[in-house]
Amino acid sequence: MRLAINAIADELRRLKASGVGQVSVSEEGLESLRRSVAERGSPAGEAPAEEAADEAAHPPPVVVLPRGDKQARWDALRSQVLEDPVCKAKVRPGKKVVLGVGSLDASIMFVGEAPGAEEEVQGEPFVGPAGQLLTKMIVGMGLSRGDVYIGNIMNWRPDLPVDPGGVQVGNRPPTEKEMAHCLPYLRAQVEIVAPRLLVALGATAARGLLGHKAFGALGEVRGAWHDFGGRPLMVTYHPSYILRNPTNRTKRLIWEDLLKVMERANMPISEKQRGFFLK
Ligand code: URA
Repeated sequence: MRLAINAIADELRRLKASGVGQVSVSEEGLESLRRSVAERGSPAGEAPAEEAADEAAHPPPVVVLPRGDKQARWDALRSQVLEDPVCKAKVRPGKKVVLGVGSLDASIMFVGEAPGAEEEVQGEPFVGPAGQLLTKMIVGMGLSRGDVYIGNIMNWRPDLPVDPGGVQVGNRPPTEKEMAHCLPYLRAQVEIVAPRLLVALGATAARGLLGHKAFGALGEVRGAWHDFGGRPLMVTYHPSYILRNPTNRTKRLIWEDLLKVMERANMPISEKQRGFFLK
């Protein structure tokens, strides 16, 4: 719970930094938070003993990829992720751990934040509303989902309190510790696929790939080339940002970042593509 509350506080700070002045919280949501904090009863900011012990018992995984072709190495990685005790413990009953999908020979790897409600049911990244928009963006680039590789920083959906029906309402960004646990798995996927370049979708993906303290607001790093393990990394908005702000201006901003990606990947770009979202 402490992790969830810290993550909510992080998210509120992030929204404030990006100019959001107000968020509405339902009375039920507030009540549920109050109840959970009271039940746990741990002093603010202090990790409950069992949580600290859990972290010590489960340090971030060490991934040793076997020799062999890309598929064999990816299959071995998938088995390790599915058997990871932390991943297994973090996934609610009936839900799935999520690893990346796509071409193991992709030139472009997109990296998002974490599975959401649809993703943890299907066990595949970016299949919900944000995923449908990401698919449209990929098609706009002249590619299909199967031509690229799509992964996430996280392999499970970060938890929040559930409603009386046991259903998690909403999403929260992962904490630093949660990200530290999953990052070795993302690095292994990068090693296997060996894409020509990566695209970080949103602030959490950028923090994961650039290092947690590398920037304040996303605007400081967005639209520019960075480095991830010797590979070019473009940082752009998360598709859910466009879903929340569906104006031509925001669409054009993300599209300009993708035009840079296409140029760097030596992809053909038509005049029509260059003009997307200008009017
Ligand atoms: N948002 C993400 O960052 N990743 C997903 O897989 C889905 C939504």
